Amino acid sequence: MKLFLGLFLCAFSVCCSSATFSGSRRSILREVNDKDQTGVDHDYAVELNATNFDSVLKDTPATFAVVEFFAHWCPACRNYKPHYEKVARLFNGADAVHPGIILLTRVDCALKINTKLCDKFSVGHYPMLFWGAPPKFVGGSWEPKQEKSDIHVIDDARTADRLLNWINKQTSSSFGLDDQKFQNEQLSSNVSDPEQIARAIYDVEEATSIAFDIILEHKMIKPETRAPLIKFLQLLTAHHPSRRCRKGAGELLVSFDDLYPTDFSSSQKQDDDKSQVTNFQICGKEVPRGYWMFCRGSKNETRGFSCGLWVLLHSLSVRIEDGESQFTFNAICDFVHNFFVCEECRQHFYKMCSSVSSPFNKARDFALWLWSSHNKVNERLSKEEASLGTGDPKFPKTIWPPKQLCSSCYLGHDQKSNKIEWNQDEVYKALRNYYGTTLVSLYKEKGIVGNEGTEGAALEDLIVASNAIVVPVGAALAIAVASCAFGALACYWRSQQKSRKPRRTWN
Ligand SMILES: Cc1cc2nc3c(=O)[nH]c(=O)nc-3n(C[C@H](O)[C@H](O)[C@H](O)COP(=O)(O)OP(=O)(O)OC[C@H]3O[C@@H](n4cnc5c(N)ncnc54)[C@H](O)[C@@H]3O)c2cc1C
Ligand SMILES: *[C@@H]1O[C@H](CO)[C@@H](O)[C@H](O)[C@H]1NC(C)=O
Ligand SMILES: *[C@@H]1O[C@H](CO)[C@@H](O)[C@H](O)[C@H]1NC(C)=O
Ligand SMILES: *[C@@H]1O[C@H](CO)[C@@H](O)[C@H](O)[C@H]1NC(C)=O
Repeated sequence: MKLFLGLFLCAFSVCCSSATFSGSRRSILREVNDKDQTGVDHDYAVELNATNFDSVLKDTPATFAVVEFFAHWCPACRNYKPHYEKVARLFNGADAVHPGIILLTRVDCALKINTKLCDKFSVGHYPMLFWGAPPKFVGGSWEPKQEKSDIHVIDDARTADRLLNWINKQTSSSFGLDDQKFQNEQLSSNVSDPEQIARAIYDVEEATSIAFDIILEHKMIKPETRAPLIKFLQLLTAHHPSRRCRKGAGELLVSFDDLYPTDFSSSQKQDDDKSQVTNFQICGKEVPRGYWMFCRGSKNETRGFSCGLWVLLHSLSVRIEDGESQFTFNAICDFVHNFFVCEECRQHFYKMCSSVSSPFNKARDFALWLWSSHNKVNERLSKEEASLGTGDPKFPKTIWPPKQLCSSCYLGHDQKSNKIEWNQDEVYKALRNYYGTTLVSLYKEKGIVGNEGTEGAALEDLIVASNAIVVPVGAALAIAVASCAFGALACYWRSQQKSRKPRRTWN
């Protein structure tokens, strides 16, 4: 039956039935297969197996996935590999021309560990290609007679050209095998589409990770910069929109005193610690990925990190409580001032920070201050970029939010001062929708956001993270609130770590 099905479904000129070969020839043939026919020594398509299949497809930022089921002994598969790789090269990896949109993967059905997985997808011949949204593959299956399925067999993929054609039809795109990087921007440049910001959650992680890479690489932790960094870490631990960054920030906070004691002399210590600390990835080992999604420029030198940083700052500003607004203002101003390597940016930003005369009491006021500061930067840069031609032609600086995103934000236009009159309530609402809800909507599906920004979640993360001391949440909150103005749990945690060695007992 299986053999029959295989021949019946076979879409390739030569293909292998899954029922024929097995066992003993495997090892010999694998050696042959190890030498890649494209002459490149690494593959672009991501090799999956039963162990990582679900987790990779769950975590990928890509909107679509292709899964190729093959067998390493199958000659048709070996001949097909260069074609598949040609397409994978466009979409996979940091050097991809169109990164983060489609993930191309392969599963070797001739490996015993994958037998069940291949059965679940009724793989009847090799190679057999499937298409679908990545989450649909997680714990998924496919049957030939199924009428409606979220997973589709790619029935015309014999050559790289035909596979790409098929993909173009599915995505209404015009990807080409000869596309140059940054030349042909697709699926990601509609500024007035409010849903686009959902992709920025990946950029917020990317920016966070890069910011800390820079700090560690440039040995920016000095006695005088410890306090600003700890403050920012507290803010991230409590309110970073991504759960795994909250977790990493918490971990760094917990071990901060050990890694950087108050009396350490900067560069010597940081050299000693190099191996331990520079390997620390604050948002987990999958980040940074090496590319941007929402913040991707149409040139390689535009947007990226600074865009991701803005989005991070805005996303923090809409997550804080009223009582944290002044702390957040200080944490962000000091962080930019001490750790943002763009000299002009930090100077300008510091000036704007310094001109604030009275403390913030409301989260709303701080979020609106950040918004208006960002617009001041936009206004200045739009003139600068227009005269110097340094901007990104596809992303000209404009006042935010544009009318398409929020027409109710606009009250009118003051002729005398040539300034927009804003409805600030509406602007705050727009900020909260955009950077609060929509930003994490994609991640919610994937369970990486966690219990939205609550301190309970932060504590839970911290406990999971180091598996050390455990205190009742209520007690922790009470002590923490009493002893620290902000970042309550993280602060409490830190002081506990200082005074006692971790215990592993629960009592
Ligand atoms: C703190 C800071 C200070 C900077 N100062 C300077 C400087 O002095 N000189 C300089 O050349 N560059 C500066 N930059 C970099 C510059 O602001 C841009 O980040 C960079 O030019 C990339 O621009 P972009 O088109 O990606 O949009 P960005 O300005 O980076 O904005 C990212 C996204 O945020 C949204 N957005 C835009 N404006 C607002 C707003 N007012 N409120 C909320 N959301 C908004 C939009 O969706 C936009 O795509 C600074 C960056 C930061 C983080
Ligand atoms: C599955 O793939 C992962 C990642 O490539 C690898 O580390 C792991 O060893 C593989 N498992 C088996 C059983 O081959
Ligand atoms: C951009 O997004 C808006 C809002 O979703 C939509 O109306 C518009 O047609 C889109 N423009 C393009 C060029 O896709
Ligand atoms: C950007 O692209 C140009 C041309 O491809 C290249 O010379 C330059 O090194 C790139 N810059 C960066 C920062 O990657």
